[in-house]
Amino acid sequence: MFLRGCLLIVRLRLQMPSSFLTFQRFSKVPTGFASLNFPASQQGGVGLNLFIKGISQLVTVASNGKRTKTCSEMHELGILDEAGVLCLKGKIDWIGRMREWNRSLPDAFPEIDAGGKVVMPGFVDSHTHMMFAGSREHEFSLRSQGATYQQIAEQGGGILNTVQHVRVASKRELKKTTSRYLTDMMRHGTTTVEIKSGYGLRMDSEIKMLEAINELKNEEIMTIVPTFIGAHAVPPEYNGGSDVYVRKITDEMIPYIGKKNLAAFCDVFCEKGYFELDEAERVLVKGKKFGMLPKIHADELTPLGGAQLAAKVGAVSADHLENVTDKGIAALQRSDVVATLLPGVSFFLGHGYAPARRLIDAGVPVAIATDFNPGSCMSYSMPMMMTIACTQMQMTPEEALTASTVNAAAALNMSSTVGSIEIGKNADLIIADIPDYRFMAYHFGTNHVWKTIKNGTILEF
Ligand code: NIG
Ligand code: FE
Repeated sequence: MFLRGCLLIVRLRLQMPSSFLTFQRFSKVPTGFASLNFPASQQGGVGLNLFIKGISQLVTVASNGKRTKTCSEMHELGILDEAGVLCLKGKIDWIGRMREWNRSLPDAFPEIDAGGKVVMPGFVDSHTHMMFAGSREHEFSLRSQGATYQQIAEQGGGILNTVQHVRVASKRELKKTTSRYLTDMMRHGTTTVEIKSGYGLRMDSEIKMLEAINELKNEEIMTIVPTFIGAHAVPPEYNGGSDVYVRKITDEMIPYIGKKNLAAFCDVFCEKGYFELDEAERVLVKGKKFGMLPKIHADELTPLGGAQLAAKVGAVSADHLENVTDKGIAALQRSDVVATLLPGVSFFLGHGYAPARRLIDAGVPVAIATDFNPGSCMSYSMPMMMTIACTQMQMTPEEALTASTVNAAAALNMSSTVGSIEIGKNADLIIADIPDYRFMAYHFGTNHVWKTIKNGTILEF
């Protein structure tokens, strides 16, 4: 099955002519530019119109109505050569080979000539902790000298280090640094991002984070999905008393956050020394009652059984899975849970990688995300994650791209609107200055994104 997928792609590539067509009819300079900060009214699809022509490879990653792509489907990228894309009011209205184009557009219609470059969906980064204060380069140095993430955490570093900084930071400061990162992420091709709380670990500070995330959601052009993870670590004032803190989360934080509609998802760091299975379950079940869908940090450092819990509570995704067991994989196989793998964490912490091959071959939909945070992955580059997935986790470039787009959208319950270039979906795409889509993972450590297009609007940086 795996080899068959690979050969199919090779055949498609060989049929592709090396030149691309130019179109005399559409020679105007694009006019659909926008500044980066958009009013809320322009988010979610009410954007500008744009015709993109001169595309050598249009990598649609079409899922044809399916929520996720699994097994050999992860290899099928739906590539069209010498193609064009029409975006109307921020949505994709037409895609096809230019020789099939038979519509006429008004004279002043905004357009861009991709000049033979590659177009693919904007990346969906479905797992980040990108709102934080302070930094942890000291821990990075310690790890380079052999200390482990757990040893650093046991000495008060790790998540609790960042918590100290976030608790004293103002909402304005948090928004400012996060906004800068958002801009650079878009420059690197990310058009949808999930942002978790979890560095407040106290009612007021968790609310501060979630309010800041929601304000950014309304102010920025990036599509932002807020997640509540009050159960990220037991705060120091509880002296390890996780049960009391869990009650605080379930009885006070979740009802307030749910009623105020501050988060789409509820997440838990289910791990030895953080939250046990039964505690994680209590939090996720309560979150669900208040309208927040479950997500889990599962089996990252130890094989605790987070994958099985994800299946049990009907989580949208189980994330990490570096130490998932055979039973865990079997549980995921029987469920609708998306396995979100975080290649940058294993790379950055120097621990083992999640068994991507076994998960994909078992038919589990696999997504990849950055987990961008100051401790375990100080990178928001989705292409870098794709490279690591291909070199260290035996994923193919096709699987890595599917995992970064449509399957990642499914990990946010959004695959009907983002994650692939299909008619009716949001016109979130990137034009990459590469000769072939595989260069996105193959030629690593540089930014190949020439233009990021969000809701049919070319972003200017
Ligand atoms: O996903 N594992 C738990 N949370 C983050 C790390 C956050 C931190 O170290 O600040 C993660 O790796
Ligand atoms: Fe995380």
